[in-house]
Amino acid sequence: MKKEKKAVILAHNYQRAEIQDIADYVGDSIELSRKAMEEKEAEIILFSAVDFMAESAAILNPEKKVLLPSKGARCPMAQMLPVEQVKVWKKRYPNVPVVLYVNTLAEAKAECDVCCTSANAVEIVKALDAETVLFGPDHNLAWHVQRKTGKQIIPIPERGFCPTHMLFQKEDIEILKSQYPNAVVAVHPECMPEVQQIADFIGSTSQMCRFAKSSDAKEIVIATEVGLLHRLRKENPDKTFIPAYADAVCPNMKLNTLERLYLTLKNEQHIISVPKAVAEKARKALENMFTLLSR
Ligand code: 13P
Ligand code: SF4
Repeated sequence: MKKEKKAVILAHNYQRAEIQDIADYVGDSIELSRKAMEEKEAEIILFSAVDFMAESAAILNPEKKVLLPSKGARCPMAQMLPVEQVKVWKKRYPNVPVVLYVNTLAEAKAECDVCCTSANAVEIVKALDAETVLFGPDHNLAWHVQRKTGKQIIPIPERGFCPTHMLFQKEDIEILKSQYPNAVVAVHPECMPEVQQIADFIGSTSQMCRFAKSSDAKEIVIATEVGLLHRLRKENPDKTFIPAYADAVCPNMKLNTLERLYLTLKNEQHIISVPKAVAEKARKALENMFTLLSR
């Protein structure tokens, strides 16, 4: 069906193993955005992930038909910062730049100065000529950025979070560390501060893959959605990966199944479209991210 429809399949690192195995490319949110933006050959981009990632693809490559395999695959964190809220915070702090995590809906992105992902949030905030920054919607990522940049980060909303990453507990990881005394701990910055504080490495999903490859450690505790373990084990058959919490599943990411991918392609359904005026402003915020990164 992929060949027949001249489609390319982009899959996030949290997708089910069988989807990762048939995808043309598997990556984190910044890598998938770049792939979508640079895609020339394919007529259809089947984006196996959640709503905001497919929306970014549609914004960055408006020539292509972007399909999401499950209409209901929405990131709850992205819903925590409606555009009206962004406008309220901007009024409250008129001269403060707004940095939004890509885990936001297009309408919210359209109101910010620049986007970021977990792979580059620190770099983006450092690059801004401002000591105070409005940052949303993830309160934990905001904490990570404040810690790494020393700048004043105002989280918007005050307590935006990822329900899946909130499942990781410091105590569970401490027990694993006593069971595997030689293990190192890699965590996603969406985890709570106390979990980040006991980590050996903090980074995006693909950065965790690169860390796993380059680390001398043979045992690695992983604190992110369990879908990443498939890729880690495939790429590092000689290493042992231990989930910090085995039930850390993002139910929205897991709505996508092979059958749904097939049917979505076959019927060319669940087309992602963003109103032109919103898309133009949101594209500027995404492009500002790429510009700041290439400086
Ligand atoms: P990454 O960009 O690290 O893949 O993160 C996306 C995400 O949704 C994490 O929960
Ligand atoms: Fe959203 Fe969390 Fe799922 Fe990532 S893991 S898509 S942040 S709910």
